[in-house]
Parts: sequence; structure tokens; C-alpha cells
Amino acid sequence: MQAQRAQGTEDLYGSYMRSWQRMVSEAEQLFSDWGFDMIETPAMEQVSTFVHGIGESTDVVRKEMFRVYSGALLEGIFERGSEEHLKPRQRLALRPEGTAGIVRSAVENTFVPQGGAPVKLWYAMPMFRGERPQKGRLRQFHQVGLEWLGASDPAADAECIIVLMEYFQRLGFAPEQLRLTINSMGDATCRPAYREQVRAFILDHADEMCDDCIERAELNPLRAFDCKSEHCREVMQAAPRVTQALCDECAAHYAQVKTYLDAAGVAYEEDETLVRGLDYYTRTVFEVEVVGSSVGAIGGGGRYDGLVELEGGKPTPGLGFAVGFERIALALEELGVSLAGDEPSCAYVACADPSLREAVFSLVLELRRAGVRTECDYQARSLKSQLKQADKLGATVCLVLGPDEVAAGSVTLRDMGTHEQRLVARGDVVGQVASSFTSA
Ligand code: HAM
Repeated sequence: MQAQRAQGTEDLYGSYMRSWQRMVSEAEQLFSDWGFDMIETPAMEQVSTFVHGIGESTDVVRKEMFRVYSGALLEGIFERGSEEHLKPRQRLALRPEGTAGIVRSAVENTFVPQGGAPVKLWYAMPMFRGERPQKGRLRQFHQVGLEWLGASDPAADAECIIVLMEYFQRLGFAPEQLRLTINSMGDATCRPAYREQVRAFILDHADEMCDDCIERAELNPLRAFDCKSEHCREVMQAAPRVTQALCDECAAHYAQVKTYLDAAGVAYEEDETLVRGLDYYTRTVFEVEVVGSSVGAIGGGGRYDGLVELEGGKPTPGLGFAVGFERIALALEELGVSLAGDEPSCAYVACADPSLREAVFSLVLELRRAGVRTECDYQARSLKSQLKQADKLGATVCLVLGPDEVAAGSVTLRDMGTHEQRLVARGDVVGQVASSFTSA
């Protein structure tokens, strides 16, 4: 039987890979200009990192996190019928998102000593969630994101959103193609009372809501706002609104974030039902969708002022966002925008006589060392089929080496677009081709 990839995973190659590379390189340039440094954390973390950070009652932790056991550990679990005997360091999971692991790393490596300057980090990493695979929803997907630790100023919330929208523009979205929604979720002072109000509302409307929402009433009532059932979402329209419940500090923080966004000319909609699926958020949350597209949110994030403490660090505010590569690629494709760009151009060195294979070898080497992407034949093909292959590879120039050329100390340079040919001295050809490639 032919081997198959795991369900809900994709291979990245060809133009799809170039799209991912473009996302990473645009992020590298933009985020570096905004003062962020790149970080990569392990794909595997101790389960407790995610349980503390994302929240034990979230779908992501309860249902979607892929747990990782070695074969030997698994045998022990089967024998005993439980994993109770495992030490915390033996309970591992693939990261369902990047924030918890980065905050764990920041705590472990003391990135933000008490009173120290904020630390600004960005990442491009695969994430893993055991969701039901469908369009734009994968089990292994790729996020680009950033995390900013140590900044409590509402200007940081606004800057985070502004750089996110700038990033989307650089990837090819026009501002009017995007819908940015924002909300405030309050903090440890005001959220508990609000949670209680929403819990009571759900229980009052229990006969109208699905079993999941009734379970959520106890575990995580705010998640009922984005229940998969449209009917539940309709019922929740009448639920108490968070802005009525914000404490003075949270209300002032939220108002200031909006003032900064207005000053920057960033358009947004307020959505009081925007709650996000991860428990660590406090105050500002935001999400971005493509207008008229069914791919779902292409990015989201918010503030998480309690997360560093939850991961065992000193109280340190934090905020960030992540965007999903696969959904962005789908959305841009729907809009007819190419993220991948053209295939890189190359030069082709054709060998007109097998006795000249070594001369071709040297010329290819020189071109590559001069920074020219260069191909040649490795299958002893005829000159005609070498030229065909050069065409297929999208070569912009073909350098032909035959006995006549070698005798004249030159190379035939063929422009693959116009088919014009001319002889160029062997000593000049590498420089000429290299400069035509750098000026292209
Ligand atoms: P999130 O909203 O769970 O946030 O994910 C961010 C983005 O990842 C989503 O908007 C979506 O584009 C993409 N995404 C999520 N799940 C899938 C999936 N199963 N398949 C394909 N794409 C997916 C976070 O992960 C937070 N860590 C963001 C953040 C950073 N908040 C603060 N800092």
C-alpha cells in the first residue's frame, strides 16, 4: 500500500513552500523593524505548560492537544491502565499554540527580570491540534506570531494590532478586505463577577442551549458566546455584555487602546461576543477575518497579563498575536493574489559534446559560486533535450559549451526568451551572467 500523510497534515513544497517562505521573510523584515527578535521553542512541552497557560477547561487542552508518549511509557500506561505513575516531565504534548511555550521559555531563561525592559519576540512554527480536519482547519498548521512581555501600556496593545494589520497588507490584503474585531475581556478584578453573570444567564436559558454550553456554564461560561450552534449564539446575544462589567482600570485601558487605533487610522469593529478560545487572555482581545471569505479567522491575539505568573514567573504583563499560514494562503488564493511569487530564475549550462563534461562541471561551479542558480544535465541527454529541459526549468539564459566554443575560448549565451544567441569570452561569461541576474 502506498504510504499516506497523516490526516489533517500537508506537505509544503513548490509554490506552497515559497508562500510559507514569503510569509516568514516578510515577518522577519517587518517585525525586526518593530524591534522583535526571532525565537523558536521545542515542538514538545510538558503538558503542565499548556494546562497552566491555555487553561484546563479549554477545548484546546481537553480535546485537541496531542499527547506524546514513548513506546516504553505507553506500555507502562497500558499495563497499569492509567498514566498516574508518570512524572510531570514524562507527560508531554505537541504545542497547540506558541504563546504558552514562549512564556515558559521567558520564565525559565529570565528574559524579563523584575523591573527590566520588555522583551519582544516573534516566531514562525508548526502547531498541532487534534481538530476534525476540514478546509482551513488542520492538525498540523503553521503560525507566524509575536509575543511582547513586560509592557502594560495600552500603546503596546494598539501597536500590536497595527503591526498585525501592516503585516497582512504586506502579504497582499487590501485594508478593506479585512475585518478587525476587538473586545476587552476584563481582568482578575472584574472578570470573575462577569463570568458569574454569564453562568447564571446560561443556566436560566438551559432549556434553549446545547449540552456543551450547559457544561461550559460551569467550566468556561464565556465560551458559550462562540458555540458552534447558531441557536446558542443567538440566545447569547441577550447575555450580559462585558463592557458593562469592566472595572474602571480595564475600561480606561480599553478606551485608550481605541484612541491609539483611531489615531493610527486603523479601522476596527467592536464585538462584545469576541472571547477567544484560550483562557489566558485579559483585557484587549482581537481577531481578523477576510470579508466575504469562509476560511475563518486568519489571525488573532490579545493581552495576557496573568500568564507569566501562571507559568511560574513574577507578575509580568504580556500580549501578542498569531496568524495562520494555511488560512492566509487559502484566503489570498480566493482573492486571486499570489503569495508565492514567481519561481526563482536560473541559468542552464548545456553540454554539446560528452568530452566537455568537465568543462561544464567547472562552469556550473563558477556560476553557483557567483550566486547564480544554475542547472545542467546529469543524465547524458542530447543537446536538444537539454535545451528543452532548460525551458522547462524556466531558465532565462542557456550557456552552451561545444567543441567550437572551447576552441574559440568562448561560450554561446542563448537568451531563452528571445532565442537570440551570441558568443561571449569564457573569461567574461560568469561576470556577465551574474550581473544580469542581480540586476533582474
Ligand atoms: P488562535 O486564535 O488559536 O490563537 O490561533 C491563531 C491563528 O492560527 C488563527 O486565527 C488561525 O488562522 C490559525 N489556526 C488556529 N487553529 C488552526 C487549525 N486547526 N488549522 C489551521 N489554522 C489554524 C493562538 O494560537 C494564540 N497563541 C495567539 C496569541 C499569541 N495570542 C497572544 N499571543
